[in-house]
Amino acid sequence: MTTSERRYHITTFGCQMNKADSERMAGILEDMGFEFSEDPNDANLILYNTCTIRDNAEQKVYSYLGRQAKRKQQHPDLTLVVAGCVAQQEGEALLRRVPELDLVMGPQHANHLQDLLEQVFNGNQVVATEPIEIIEDITKPRRDSDVTAWVNVIYGCNERCTYCVVPNVRGTEQSRTPEAIRAEIEELGRQGYKEVTLLGQNIDAYGRDLPGVTESGRHQHTLTDLLYYVHDVPGIERIRFATSHPRYFTERLIRACKDLPKVCQHFHIPFQSGDNQLLKAMARGYTHEKYRRIINTIREYMPDAAISADAIVGFPGETEAQFENTLKLVEDIGFDQLNTAAYSPRPGTPAALWDNQLSEQVKSDRLQRLNRLVSVKAAERSQRYLGRVEEVLVEAQNPKDKTQVMGRTRGNRLTFFAGDIEELKGKLVEVKITQVRAFSLTGERVNESVVITSMCS
Ligand code: SAH
Ligand code: SF4
Ligand code: F3S
Repeated sequence: MTTSERRYHITTFGCQMNKADSERMAGILEDMGFEFSEDPNDANLILYNTCTIRDNAEQKVYSYLGRQAKRKQQHPDLTLVVAGCVAQQEGEALLRRVPELDLVMGPQHANHLQDLLEQVFNGNQVVATEPIEIIEDITKPRRDSDVTAWVNVIYGCNERCTYCVVPNVRGTEQSRTPEAIRAEIEELGRQGYKEVTLLGQNIDAYGRDLPGVTESGRHQHTLTDLLYYVHDVPGIERIRFATSHPRYFTERLIRACKDLPKVCQHFHIPFQSGDNQLLKAMARGYTHEKYRRIINTIREYMPDAAISADAIVGFPGETEAQFENTLKLVEDIGFDQLNTAAYSPRPGTPAALWDNQLSEQVKSDRLQRLNRLVSVKAAERSQRYLGRVEEVLVEAQNPKDKTQVMGRTRGNRLTFFAGDIEELKGKLVEVKITQVRAFSLTGERVNESVVITSMCS
């Protein structure tokens, strides 16, 4: 293959971890001389970075893959790669299902893409799914945005929630060192990025696997310590983190979020169910009372904090009354946003084997009822923004209205206002909110001359 023939396409499914991995793999491909192709049919290397959190996510991958496998029969020099969580879960079985595949690679192998492809170009069909220690990134990611960036801080998950495939496919927890994380954020600051989101499936576990304890016996490196450690990186104006686990969420972390001005007051803390018996069956390790206490504490320190979460309906054995406990929690807390899903039995997870599964009909009915309530509550939460001046970090043009730009408030609400993207991209702008909807806002610039360039550094 000559350099000019090297065109790659990546389609990414699933969560932010996958997005971050795709950006690193794109960086590796560009280092190898590949050029990005928006259209998969115009690329000679196609990489699907896959998700298996629910059955429909997995099936989507097979339908995309089927189309390209067919194309490969006419274009034998097409290289087909499946990366991510379906690759890890299925391994060699994927080759039997789609023999046209050249490379099947689990998420822990993302940083090894170049070595793996070299084996492919030498004529091998390769499966890389064995657990390994994730090497520090040597390649620069090709990031989708030049304003906001993901920064992995911990890979994997050591929890064993009974519905979840993530521990099977992402392996055990591996924290990056604070120095490596800070170095990456400093580089982002130098490149002009304004916002970073620290990522981990269970970010509260950060540092548990790193050496060192304090005099009081606490792990020396915790998420809270990390926030203090990276807070003053020049150029970076906003710091976010996700995903938090209620079992490990601490008041010390809440205090840090209040004290550190760059940390956005938005918390993503999935509760999954509002019923204690179900939480127990899910092996989540907390009660709804504890969850409510966490949210109350956050609101005591930061009354305006935005709260979002994930929830599952139709978990095996969920009764109508137990489902209503979830509705009640949503009613009482008033989430700014909630990701909801109908329970999907996943291979290799305990709950999939239980015989008290609910019908699809019951699950989808409950999902609709929950979603209706979520929109009502989110619309109520949006009301508090009306007439207020919010700081918006401008990310892009509004694709539906070219006279507008869009960005997010510190509480993570998507906000649109009239403006020129050339002038405003990457700027923190004060916007007066004039219209509110459940999940987005519209406003106008308060004063053409007021563009905050540095909040607190
Ligand atoms: N680490 C995060 C979430 C990881 S997966 C946490 O602990 O909350 C993202 C979300 O997908 C989960 O929060 C859960 O709501 C949903 N999910 C995971 N497994 C699922 C399954 N088998 N069926 C339906 N939803 C699921
Ligand atoms: Fe899955 Fe639970 Fe780990 Fe979240 S904490 S990734 S839900 S096992
Ligand atoms: Fe999906 Fe894997 Fe993320 S299963 S949700 S892409 S960790």
